[in-house]
Amino acid sequence: MKFFVDTADTKEIRELNEIGLLDGVTTNPSLIMKSGRDITEVTKEICDIVDGPVSAEVAATEYEQMMKEADVLSKIADNICIKVPLTFDGLKACKTITSDGRKVNVTLCFSATQALLAAKAGATFISPFIGRIDDMGINGMDLIGEIRAIYDNYGFATEILAASIRTVNHVKEAALIGADVATVPPATLRALVKHPLTDKGLDAFLADWAKTGQKIA
Ligand code: E4P
Repeated sequence: MKFFVDTADTKEIRELNEIGLLDGVTTNPSLIMKSGRDITEVTKEICDIVDGPVSAEVAATEYEQMMKEADVLSKIADNICIKVPLTFDGLKACKTITSDGRKVNVTLCFSATQALLAAKAGATFISPFIGRIDDMGINGMDLIGEIRAIYDNYGFATEILAASIRTVNHVKEAALIGADVATVPPATLRALVKHPLTDKGLDAFLADWAKTGQKIA
């Protein structure tokens, strides 16, 4: 499973990338707002840090303006992936952008049929929003399973990018079901390493080691 980090915080991206955890980055208008930075400037910095695809989202809702914005965003770096919303205009933009070899992440997916349309429009990635579905009292992870089955039935190459991930368990379940990618907030990515038995075991080893009075270096 590939890991993208879901943030525009370049300090976090730099640190996580140094550990080798990152295969890409996703941003959205809310994350750009949170960064307090200019979209072109911060996105360029992110693209310089990470080799993999960096999703930058259009803010337009009409096809023509989406295409203008996609062309501006594409010029930021070679690893830009254009993010478009799952609307008819977004799908039309997806078709045009991917037809000339650029990558597209179709975002705000909340149903399997939406995901089917995105794949038919040539999407590179489909982003089902797990956490936001859970917030409605419905199991968001079921959607990942449905999309996996449909894409496998017809051999679609569109990658399932599990988004709106909120918990360690979301990551585990998405991996078990077969999502190709998970885009994870930095805090959740860091939480993946934690286990109380690891901490307990390490404390015991350190205590015993101190009793030996030895030094390795
Ligand atoms: C994905 O690309 C989105 O940026 C993100 O996962 C949205 O997550 P949220 O529901 O926590 O805002």
